[in-house]
Amino acid sequence: MNDWTRRKPVIAAGGGGADKLPPTLHWPQLMAMGVGAIIGTGILTLIGVGVDRAGPAVLIAFAIAGAVCACAALAYAELSSMMPAVGSAYSYSYAGLGEVFAWVVGWSLILEYSLVVSTVAVGWSGYASPLLVGAGFPEALTRGPELGGLINLPAIAIIAVVAGLLLMGTRESARVNAALVVVKIVTLLLFVGYTLPYFDAANLDPFMPYGYAAHVDGDGVQRGVMAAAAIIFFAFYGFDAISTAAEETRRPARDLPIAIIGSMVACTLIYMLVAAAAVGATPFASFADSPEPLALILRSIGQGGIAQIVATAAVVALPTVLLAFLYGQSRIFLAMARDGFLPQRLAHISRRGTPTRITLLTAAIVAVLAGLLPIGKVAALANAGTLIAFMAVGVCLLVLRRRAPDVPRPFRVRAVWLVGLGTLGGCLYLFFSLPADTLLWCLIWNLFGLALYAVYGRFRSALARSVPGV
Ligand code: ALA
Repeated sequence: MNDWTRRKPVIAAGGGGADKLPPTLHWPQLMAMGVGAIIGTGILTLIGVGVDRAGPAVLIAFAIAGAVCACAALAYAELSSMMPAVGSAYSYSYAGLGEVFAWVVGWSLILEYSLVVSTVAVGWSGYASPLLVGAGFPEALTRGPELGGLINLPAIAIIAVVAGLLLMGTRESARVNAALVVVKIVTLLLFVGYTLPYFDAANLDPFMPYGYAAHVDGDGVQRGVMAAAAIIFFAFYGFDAISTAAEETRRPARDLPIAIIGSMVACTLIYMLVAAAAVGATPFASFADSPEPLALILRSIGQGGIAQIVATAAVVALPTVLLAFLYGQSRIFLAMARDGFLPQRLAHISRRGTPTRITLLTAAIVAVLAGLLPIGKVAALANAGTLIAFMAVGVCLLVLRRRAPDVPRPFRVRAVWLVGLGTLGGCLYLFFSLPADTLLWCLIWNLFGLALYAVYGRFRSALARSVPGV
């Protein structure tokens, strides 16, 4: 076996190093972590972008993105139960597909996790900054250079707060997360409760004004149901972050599948209700592309007070997405450091049971991105990275059924071909419905990653050093 295709045995891929994380989590906390990661900017803000791309047929876009993510969630559930590994898709790929694929997937997961944290931090700053500026805070310090400012300090500050919480301990973070998740769910149900009575079928006509396939419209915007689905996909993922808590879970074989599938199903049901209530309550053009679509809809039906509550709850509860993704990114980096791809010193676990150095390094990277980089199209790039990871998980599901048929699978997917190919095909379809410039940036990122593997990664690999001659 040469460098590029060497694989970790399934058991080794699942196991931790000498420095293990203490197991403190049960399925209810994991499920709260999943819901906290899933419900965020996607449903609160990007639903407006989705409607701009597809009109009322955004409902179909939600159904498509939800179906693809349901397949991926089932694949994650099986793999995480047979191989509880902090590296998630990266670790599954190391065992299923080989080192170079694992590297590419790890590299793509950086796009997913880091860019989601940066995007959501900047989105959060968008809500919080008006309050700060009103209190005399300099405006130039509330937005990055792409919007004419100097640096986005509120975005950096919220990342610092969330990183501080993670350093206090995983159980402590899980408690705060659970409380904020309740705020989120109540907020969305409040929205549905107040808008559903205004449902008018006339608002669904025309249902599909921009057609089905993704295409560039006369105004240069990518439109069509599939273009909307490729963006709305952002709203659905986050359940995968649960799998990075494998080592910190008391009974991973049972708890991970329950939490992954449970959070996915719960959020899909809530999303379908919110999307139906939103497009039924007012003509879609009135909130298309709005930065605060849900609050706008509530105001337009005369519910200004509830709109205020929804906007405030968004500021309070959005940081749970940061918490879950910053947590997930630090665990994936931890897995990569254990495998030799990052300095071993970073894999150190503190007395509080958290990987302090790697958490601080991760927070510093995403804070720089959030503080300075243009983020207009960053969500689409995060989607591209996530789709690559999900494709790899779909393939690993099928490959490991053949390569490691006897490894116990406490959660076993039925109709495995349907789920595996559904994940792969669905993700490919969404991937190629993304804007062309996103695909180009994704390609550049991965070529850079592969070059780094060729000149650095393959020589640092702990697997290569532990098994002479592999
Ligand atoms: N699903 C997460 C969100 O919508 C990434 O913010």
